[in-house]
Amino acid sequence: MCGIIGYIGEADAVPIIVEGLKRLEYRGYDSAGIAVYNSGAFGVVKRKGRIAELEASLENANIFGKLGIGHTRWATHGEPNDANSHPHLGEKSRIAVVHNGIIENYKEIKGWLQEKGVKFASQTDSEVVAQLCEHHYDGDLMQAVIKVANILEGSYALGIMCLDEPDILMAIKKDNPLIVGISDDGNFIASDVPAILPHTTKVHYLNDKEIAILTKDDVKFYNMDSETIHREAETITWTMEGAEKGGYPHFMLKEIMEQPRVIKETIKNTLMDGANKNAIDSLDISHFNKVVITACGSACYAGIVGKYVFERLCRISVEVEFASEFRYKDPIVDDKTLVIVVSQSGETADTIGAMREAKKRGATTFAIVNAVGSTIAREADFTAYTAAGPEIAVASTKAFSAQLVLLYILAIRFAQKLGKIDDIKTAELIDEINALPEKATQVLEHTDYIQKYAAGSINSKSVFFIGRNVDYAISFEGSLKLKEISYIHSEAYAGGELKHGTIALIEEGVLVVAISCCPSLYGKIFSNVEQVISRGARVLFVSTEDTKEDDKLSLIKLPPVHELFSPSLSVIVLQLFSYYVAANKGLDIDKPRNLAKSVTVE
Ligand code: F6R
Repeated sequence: MCGIIGYIGEADAVPIIVEGLKRLEYRGYDSAGIAVYNSGAFGVVKRKGRIAELEASLENANIFGKLGIGHTRWATHGEPNDANSHPHLGEKSRIAVVHNGIIENYKEIKGWLQEKGVKFASQTDSEVVAQLCEHHYDGDLMQAVIKVANILEGSYALGIMCLDEPDILMAIKKDNPLIVGISDDGNFIASDVPAILPHTTKVHYLNDKEIAILTKDDVKFYNMDSETIHREAETITWTMEGAEKGGYPHFMLKEIMEQPRVIKETIKNTLMDGANKNAIDSLDISHFNKVVITACGSACYAGIVGKYVFERLCRISVEVEFASEFRYKDPIVDDKTLVIVVSQSGETADTIGAMREAKKRGATTFAIVNAVGSTIAREADFTAYTAAGPEIAVASTKAFSAQLVLLYILAIRFAQKLGKIDDIKTAELIDEINALPEKATQVLEHTDYIQKYAAGSINSKSVFFIGRNVDYAISFEGSLKLKEISYIHSEAYAGGELKHGTIALIEEGVLVVAISCCPSLYGKIFSNVEQVISRGARVLFVSTEDTKEDDKLSLIKLPPVHELFSPSLSVIVLQLFSYYVAANKGLDIDKPRNLAKSVTVE
C-alpha cells in the first residue's frame, strides 16, 4: 500500500526512481510523484494516475539531480489528485517527504500547525510530516525527525530530504516496511526489494523507529536516542528475471506459468536440510492442544485448505481466522496454542497485528512467508519460507501455490511426529507431494479449452464455485480470483449447503464451477451439479474423474492426484479461468481497480 523509493549517488536520480516506482506500482496506482534536489531547490513533479502519466509529464519537466525520492499512491486520506500526490513539501519548500502508512493524529497536528499560521497544500495525513519536520528543523535533520517521530501516531515509512542538508537522504519507519539498499553506485531506500533489484541485492531491513542516514557512499543507522546501531547487510537471492514479465502479456500469467518451478523449489527447500526443515523440526508439536491458522485473503484461503489437510492427517482440531477478525475477538489462545501465520509479503498490517496478539497471549507463532526479512518473518518464533520469488501481479497465484505445499508438508511432518502416520505412509505422502510439479505442468499444457470456456463466460453476472471437503476449501480462492480481476460477482459454497437457501439464486444461464477431486464424494457433488443444471445453470466441472459432457456440462479433467493435495492442481484451472475472463474483458489484470498488493494499513 503505497510504494516509496529514494536514491542518493552519482547518477541521475530521475530514471532510477521512475524505474523503481514501476516495480512498486503493484502497491498502489492512484497517483505518483517524484522530487529531486538540484542547485539549492527541489524539482517536483506529481500526477494523478499511473506511473506512465508521471513519466509523460517528466519528459517536459527538465528535472534531474543526484538525490531524489518518489512515491506511488494508494489513496487513504484525500482523493487521488495532483495536490494529494507525494512527495509533500513543507510550506517553505525546504523539506520533502514521501510517506507510506497512516498518521492517525494528523488532524491534531494539522490544527496545531495551522494555528501557528502554517498553510497546507493538500488534504492528506502525510503532509503533516513534511510541515512538522520543517517546523522543528533547526539545522539538524536527524534531531527534527526524532522530534517528529515522537509526535506521530500511526504507521509510517518515510523518505526525507532537506535543502539545507543535500548530501543526505533520511529514512525512518514504524509498522510499515522500509529497506535500505547499498551498492557501489549509490544507496537506496525502498518499500520492497523489486524496486532496487536492478542495482543491488544487498539490503538492510529497518526496524521500527530506527533511522537510516544515507550518503552517496555510506549508510549509518541510529536509534531514537541518536546512538549508532551496527547492523549487517543481508544478500537477497531474488533475481531480476523474477521481477520482469519475460515476454508474457501480464505478470499474472507469467506467475501462473511459474508454478511448477515454485512448487518444486518450495518442496525442495522444505524437505532438504536448511532453514525451513530446521524450523519444522524444532517445533515440539505434542506440546500444543490447538492450532490456529490466521492470515488475510488468499493466504487465509490457503489456510482453509491447510485445515482440511491438518485435521485429516494429524487428527488435531484447527481453526482458521481472518487476521482482521482474530486480533479483535479476544481470541482463545494460550501457551498451548500453535498459531500459524501465512503471508506472501510478510507485511500485511492485519496479519502482523494478529501475530503480535497471539504472541502476547503466550502462543507459539510459526510463519509461512515469501518475502525474506519481512516483519512477519523476523518476528515469528519460527519461520519457513515459500520459494515463490517476487510476486508482482496484485492477484496472488504462485505464492498461494507455494503456501499450499508448505502447509501440506507441515501437516505430514506434524502427523509423523504425533505418531498419526507411520514411516511408510509418510513416504507415500511425500512421493505424492514430489509428483505435484510434474502434474501442475500437465495442467498448464492444456490451457486452450479453459481459454475458450472463459471467453464464453465474460457476460456472466454471477458465478458460484462449489465443492466438498478440500474442493470446497479451494473454491474460496477460485471465487476471490474471479472477483478481484474480472469484477464479476462470485461466491464459494459448500456443495451440500446450496439447497439450504442459495440455490434460490440459480436460474437460466448462471455459471457454476464445480470442483470434484475427492473420489469418495464424487457422487455427492454430482448430485449438486444435477440440482443446479435442472434449474438452468451451466456447469464447468473440474474433476479427476471422467464425466460425460453435454450442452450444460463441460469437463476439465485433471491428472490423478492424492485428493488432499488436489487443490494444487484445481487452483491452476481456477486461476487460468479468471485470468482469461479478465483478459477477454480487456481489463487491467495486474493492477485491478481499488486494490493494492501488500496491504500495510488496517
Ligand atoms: C488476493 C491477494 C490478497 C492477499 C492478502 C494477504 O489475490 O493477493 O488477498 O493474499 O492481501 O497478503 P499477504 O499474503 O501479503 O499477507
